[in-house]
Amino acid sequence: MPGAPDVVLAWRAPLPDEELGELIRSHGGDPVPGWWDRIRPFSLGWVTARSGTLLVGFVNVAWDGGDHAFLLDTKTRGDRQRTGIGALVVREAVARARSAGCEWLHVDFRPELRPFYLDACGFRPTDAGLVHLLPPR
Ligand SMILES: CC(C)(COP(=O)(O)OP(=O)(O)OC[C@H]1O[C@@H](n2cnc3c(N)ncnc32)[C@H](O)[C@@H]1OP(=O)(O)O)[C@@H](O)C(=O)NCCC(=O)NCCS
Repeated sequence: MPGAPDVVLAWRAPLPDEELGELIRSHGGDPVPGWWDRIRPFSLGWVTARSGTLLVGFVNVAWDGGDHAFLLDTKTRGDRQRTGIGALVVREAVARARSAGCEWLHVDFRPELRPFYLDACGFRPTDAGLVHLLPPR
């Protein structure tokens, strides 16, 4: 595809916790060591994007065990953002969730990311609800 980022996508490929932590740091995040190792057992699967051996993109797909899958933690390496990698990993996650037999893929996001999820990734807006379960900080 012309203009497509030069990356290799994989589904459920090995991904050490430390490597995902380094990706999170690259876009200014503050990873909690052991976070990915802890949540991976609850994942339907995850997409990695690599440029050579370097991890440049990631998204996780959680699952209810039936029709519903949930897109979580889309991440693109800081210096590779706005090159199409995020949309590419999400597109792959959509295809993988469909292949796994899911009917619905949900996502929520900050308002400024509407152009990313709704326009670039093809999600449609819907009513949704949210309860914050922890005491206010
Ligand atoms: C959100 C994120 C994953 C987007 O990844 P990306 O690889 O930069 O996205 P893409 O290059 O595929 O973007 C495709 C289009 O989506 C839109 N878009 C992407 N990021 C956007 C942003 N921050 N604000 C508004 N629109 C955005 C643009 O229309 C973009 O096309 P353009 O660059 O030609 O204008 C990336 O910014 C990121 O990792 N952020 C830090 C982690 C995070 O907040 N993740 C979201 C969790 S819900």
